[in-house]
Amino acid sequence: MSEQQSQSSGDIDTVMVETRLFPPSPEFSQAARIKSLEEYQELYDTAAKDPEAFWAAEAREHLHWFEPFTQTLQWETPDAQWFLGGKTNASYNCLDAQIAAGRGDRTALLWEGEPGDSLKLTFNELHREVCRFANVLKRLGIVPGDVVSIYMPMTPELAIAMLACARVGAVHSVIFAGFSAEAIADRNNDAGVKLQITSDGLYRRGKVLPLKATVDEALAKSQTVEKCIVLRRAGNEVAMQEGRDLWWHDLIAQESDDCPATPLDSEAPLFILYTSGSTGTPKGIRHSTAGYNLFAKRTFQWVFDHQEDDIYWCTADCGWITGHSYVVYGPLSAGATILMYEGAPNYPAEDRFWEIIEKYKVSILYTAPTAIRAFIKWGDEHVDKHDLSSLRVLGSVGEGINPEAWMWYYNKIGGGRCPIVDTWWQTETGGIMMSPLPGAIATKPGSCTKPLPGVVPKIIGEDGQEVARGRGGMLCIDHPWPGMLRGIWGDPERFQEQYWSKVPGMYLTGDNARQDSDGYYWIMGRIDDVINVSGHRLSTIEVESALVSHPAVAEAAVVAKPDEIKGQAIAAFVTLRVAEPTEELRKELLMHVRKEIGALAQPDAIRFTNSLPKTRSGKIMRRLLRDIASGKAQTGDTSTLEDYSVLASLRGDEE
Ligand code: WT7
Repeated sequence: MSEQQSQSSGDIDTVMVETRLFPPSPEFSQAARIKSLEEYQELYDTAAKDPEAFWAAEAREHLHWFEPFTQTLQWETPDAQWFLGGKTNASYNCLDAQIAAGRGDRTALLWEGEPGDSLKLTFNELHREVCRFANVLKRLGIVPGDVVSIYMPMTPELAIAMLACARVGAVHSVIFAGFSAEAIADRNNDAGVKLQITSDGLYRRGKVLPLKATVDEALAKSQTVEKCIVLRRAGNEVAMQEGRDLWWHDLIAQESDDCPATPLDSEAPLFILYTSGSTGTPKGIRHSTAGYNLFAKRTFQWVFDHQEDDIYWCTADCGWITGHSYVVYGPLSAGATILMYEGAPNYPAEDRFWEIIEKYKVSILYTAPTAIRAFIKWGDEHVDKHDLSSLRVLGSVGEGINPEAWMWYYNKIGGGRCPIVDTWWQTETGGIMMSPLPGAIATKPGSCTKPLPGVVPKIIGEDGQEVARGRGGMLCIDHPWPGMLRGIWGDPERFQEQYWSKVPGMYLTGDNARQDSDGYYWIMGRIDDVINVSGHRLSTIEVESALVSHPAVAEAAVVAKPDEIKGQAIAAFVTLRVAEPTEELRKELLMHVRKEIGALAQPDAIRFTNSLPKTRSGKIMRRLLRDIASGKAQTGDTSTLEDYSVLASLRGDEE
């Protein structure tokens, strides 16, 4: 067994015993878009029989075309191009197309700020705001293909900035507002960013974090950035650099409401989003305009069974792919009313989410297992205070949801009447790949159930062949789908190497999975050195590099350890150059990682050691470190890492 398989075996054990089946109620199914397993199967089979014809029909019906496409797919591994010859615009699909369909006066966006302020924008109003800001971009000389970096709190202006970029053909690179100045500078430099957008500050649990100050530090190292637009949000003091920094409100004041969307090639890049891979530097995942937009829209409609009167709330930040696909592009291009919330789930109290659901009568909630586990810990009394009867569909994303959390979500939040859609996908896939369709597919706690129409998963063994039903293996995707990534920004070799070389002709997801006897899929964890902390991806090597960049550190090894709330937490083993292992140094290293990457990468534990256990060939024995970090390792004679190291080299262990 390889080390990766043994890593995920814990997950397998817990999900394999799960046999409970939760079919949707007949009332739910009758009113749903897709009403039965047979209907799902028919749709799936149609797509599987002729994927190109299927997606061509979908694209014609569900996107606006300034010019129709002439070729559905051009595919030569690893380069897929969809809907060639066509011209569309994602901002048009999200706004103008909705207004044309008579939704102008319907609510597009509901927003609640952390301090309790709120805002409501109709499609007409959102259109106006986006047009004005798109005119700002044009006035600043932004042309199609320019990259714009966005580092902002979850305010309406964040969505407005994204849609304005899309409107003029600029490629946005949203950086989650928890990342450090170093991380912003790395990403900006990699993408050759021309314009930065940020805000003065960000509210977090009643405090104001100085975003602009972080950006100032980043821009000192981002050579290509010419201008910086600053939104006034928190009112904190900022230093405006003459000639570079401009206030958002000053800029829009002089702009008109009219800015026709630029017709863009189907394959024009819509955005880049950086994510961690198994090596040190994050990769800029590049998504397209037409294919991505279509996939985000249709998967949104299928998975959440979206209906005209729904109030839909996805709690993800726009700094992650979930915020791109299921806060902004998917729902808005489906004409949905979205809710955005700026702040923490436990501010001012632990019932904030439930208060928001009651206040806005949210009917679809999409959140993450890590949040659900925190709610469970905070106690049912916070939930009991509120009327959650408006809810009808519950979603989960980011990591597998353990059956205990699933049952709590189902009973306590959903009142036993709301289907749970456990959605499996990735930054790279652009949209949801596997998930129950809530009116059609009976759920099993912990399983993402079945692939969506047009998605062809395959589970491949080490021998490169499909494994027998019931066996675990590498999860791959067999045929291109419109939402798939189009590449890694500036690095075609890494794109080929990472996703397309291990199993020729197929997209390698990096996850292990198995299919049960009902054909349901169960995700069993990563096959690479990627850690999933609170549903966010980090590479062990990225954190190791950050640690080693500190002058006191000689060597570092980072592994995941189980965590009740976060799913996985980071444990670091560190050897020092000359310094003494003090409590002070430990704190300094924690701060150093925060500074290099951001708070989310900060290890939960740092253990100092004289040497790291290595194999004869010099590879760090991560499996052993994982066992030690999670308290699984046998101690006794061999109670220190040094002893392990000696043992390992004596035995000549290879992983
Ligand atoms: C990785 C992708 C997809 C948006 C959020 C994370 C894990 C994600 C599930 C799920 C089991 C899941 C996988 C995947 N993952 N959703 N429902 N069940 N695992 O996006 O940062 O690109 O991470 O998250 O390991 O490969 P991401």
